[in-house]
Amino acid sequence: MENRLNELTGSEWLYWTNTIYETNFPPDATHRWRKMHGAMKPPALMAEIISFFSKSGELILDPFAGVGGTLLGAVSVGRQAIGIEINPMWVEIYRKIAPSEEEKDHPGQQKGPKMLLGDCLECMPGIPDESVAAIITDPPYGCQQREIAFKRETNFNMKSTAKDDFGNCNSYPEYLHKMGLFGREAFRLLKPGRYLVLMIGDRYQDGEYIPLGVMVAERLRQVGFTWKGMKIWWNKATQRPLKPYAIKSCFVPNITHQNILILRKGSKC
Ligand SMILES: C[S@@+](CC[C@H](N)C(=O)[O-])C[C@H]1O[C@@H](n2cnc3c(N)ncnc32)[C@H](O)[C@@H]1O
Repeated sequence: MENRLNELTGSEWLYWTNTIYETNFPPDATHRWRKMHGAMKPPALMAEIISFFSKSGELILDPFAGVGGTLLGAVSVGRQAIGIEINPMWVEIYRKIAPSEEEKDHPGQQKGPKMLLGDCLECMPGIPDESVAAIITDPPYGCQQREIAFKRETNFNMKSTAKDDFGNCNSYPEYLHKMGLFGREAFRLLKPGRYLVLMIGDRYQDGEYIPLGVMVAERLRQVGFTWKGMKIWWNKATQRPLKPYAIKSCFVPNITHQNILILRKGSKC
């Protein structure tokens, strides 16, 4: 039977449908630069996701590209890629680690990846309708990140001062509204029957669990996507010791997983 989505065998496809996704990727040569970004993703992880949701030579879009994990992953598996990133610091790091790939043609007419600096809500309208095979992305996980707690957990900065940065929204309703605007554009750009895949972490804030993955998926359903599933990603390689929050007092989770939301333009398989 013809494979309409990717180049995997039946058993590779089946393996990938497991909703639990554990990885342990070793750092690659670009890691020392990319780790300056507090939320960068391993190119090897992105390459696996891209390999499921596209075929060689197809165009992948990452509208929240950071230091370019998706772009590097796309190149490694022979896809074309466009990234959009609002923070010039991350674009600069990406250009440092991928200068030879940028805007250069690859053998067989394939174009090198492009990283655009700007707000994705302004850049996406410049991309033609139904021209993208897969949107694989990792937006800010809501807003109101507590700077001090974040810095204590990590040794790097993730936020920008840009007013259009989704991470700088004043409230969750504002953040979800912007995710809806993003979703509308994503729907327009995707080829019919293809996928929007988002990595979204849940949050715990002011004493309550915030199921951000579910909230974002629901917003994207409202703009027309069909929610096909979610994979729970756990990166063993970066697991830190669990923190003793409120021990013997009340339950507070150590959120060690991230949700990979899988949404499709169209419902019929
Ligand atoms: C979770 S990070 C993505 C990290 C990326 N996966 C990587 O490997 O580096 C989300 C990124 O979205 C960017 N961002 C936030 N709002 C944006 C917007 N309106 N347009 C484009 N990028 C935006 C942030 O600056 C941040 O780098």
